[in-house]
Amino acid sequence: MWVVEDLREYISFLESRGMLKRVKVTVDPVLEIPEILRRIMYSRGPAVLFEKLKGHPEFRLAGNIFCSIDVLKEALNVNRLEEIGERLFEPLKGPPPRTLTEKIRGLGEILGFGRYMPKKTGKAGFQDNVIEGDKASFRLIPAMKIWPKDGGRYLTYALVTLRDPVKDVINMGVYRVMIAGDKEGVVHWQIHKRGMQAHQDASSMGEETIPVALVIGSDPGTLLTGALPVPYPIDKHLFAGIVRGRGLPVFDLPNGVPVPANAEIVLEGYVDLRDLRREGPYGDHFGYYDKPDRLFPTFKLERIWFRDNPIYYGSVTGKPPLEDVVIGKAAERIFLPAIQTLLPEVIDIELPPYGVFQGMGFVSIKKRYPGHGKKVLLALMGLGQLSLTKILIVVDHDINVHNIGEVLWAISSHVDPQRDVMIIPYSHADELDPSTPIPRYGSKLGIDATRKLPEEYGGREWPEEVSPDPDTIKLVDKRWSEYGL
Ligand SMILES: Cc1cc2nc3c(=O)[nH]c(=O)nc-3n(C[C@H](O)[C@H](O)[C@H](O)COP(=O)(O)O)c2cc1C
Repeated sequence: MWVVEDLREYISFLESRGMLKRVKVTVDPVLEIPEILRRIMYSRGPAVLFEKLKGHPEFRLAGNIFCSIDVLKEALNVNRLEEIGERLFEPLKGPPPRTLTEKIRGLGEILGFGRYMPKKTGKAGFQDNVIEGDKASFRLIPAMKIWPKDGGRYLTYALVTLRDPVKDVINMGVYRVMIAGDKEGVVHWQIHKRGMQAHQDASSMGEETIPVALVIGSDPGTLLTGALPVPYPIDKHLFAGIVRGRGLPVFDLPNGVPVPANAEIVLEGYVDLRDLRREGPYGDHFGYYDKPDRLFPTFKLERIWFRDNPIYYGSVTGKPPLEDVVIGKAAERIFLPAIQTLLPEVIDIELPPYGVFQGMGFVSIKKRYPGHGKKVLLALMGLGQLSLTKILIVVDHDINVHNIGEVLWAISSHVDPQRDVMIIPYSHADELDPSTPIPRYGSKLGIDATRKLPEEYGGREWPEEVSPDPDTIKLVDKRWSEYGL
């Protein structure tokens, strides 16, 4: 099976699909490139490769590489992104094998899972250049400053990689890193994320540092995996193999952290849990400057590795819809099979782009019993990162959640606010949500917009929905041309 090997091959692939533009004049990663990329993204334009960067003659910079969900599907070799989640969960569904042939086939499926395992290699393209000692500085990296009042230049799409101190699996999350000096960056791993969990676990085990690598530029499946809410403790390199369709080649850095061998740039070092600092402000995907009220740990840079003629990749955040709309949509589709494994009544889910993913979600269900809508709302309000969604609306299976008009119709015609609106007063909340009265601690809204059963409707039958008379449909079909319409 064809797998996009690395960022370079993905860029060539995007170009072959007419989805890449090249900028050949010199441009500045500080504010200028983000402004160009925002204009491109708001007009749903292609990826851009900036070939000459002010102050960084050795580097190129790729932006908006997740420009199209259809091209991403093609690059990941799937017709539907749900196929990726099904690779993990589908073998568990259905009756257990009964005949010997079925058992052998089942065993084959389980053994076939091995093709997604990470594969160690002693060779990596980024061994082309290794910079250590005094020369290893964040100044070499063409990190962007996205918004004028940001606290500095930021790595906005580094795969922050570490070995989990408790489970020995690989954590690899996209967390913004603010460059704070030649050798220091502040890592914004939010309280609900795996990086922060590792931080807390390492601290409670008495560890003062965690070996870490900041990985920049890889194949699209691996890059995407960094931003996916993969349930702990599934190994994120293993999950990257599931997304790519083939095991990820990994190279062990001297600090013991394995990283994708196809990376463009790797910053090796450690996170110092004793050195906690202020981070921000940063213009995030809500469209506000985030100014965290708590301190974050500092990454200390020891070594820089990069391929010849390296390509830096960073994402530009701001009010939707920007590049993260495609990333969020991919996450929604990939994890639908996982949600359906836990909640089989779930038919579909939509996290609307303007709802900034953690803001609002719609879910359709096959309703069976009184209170079923609220049961699903309560379950999702406690499920993984979906639980960070502030406003959740549940509708019946025949409502297309991807059509906001149908959802609004269901809310308007099925909801009695007293009965169907549920407010959870204080609970965990998205760390970036600017509306919460206390950071990370806010209320949630659930709306049950399903049709009500007699038990939920004062013992009455739900009214019959209008539909035209079948004979009249046939008659009008037959006579349509006569009407002259
Ligand atoms: C462009 C971009 C920037 C992000 N920045 C952060 C960030 O600074 N901190 C954070 O905790 N999550 C951030 N996220 C979301 C995480 O990548 C996402 O929640 C992911 O699931 C984290 O990995 P984990 O679940 O393994 O912790 C960002 C996502 C994207 C697409």
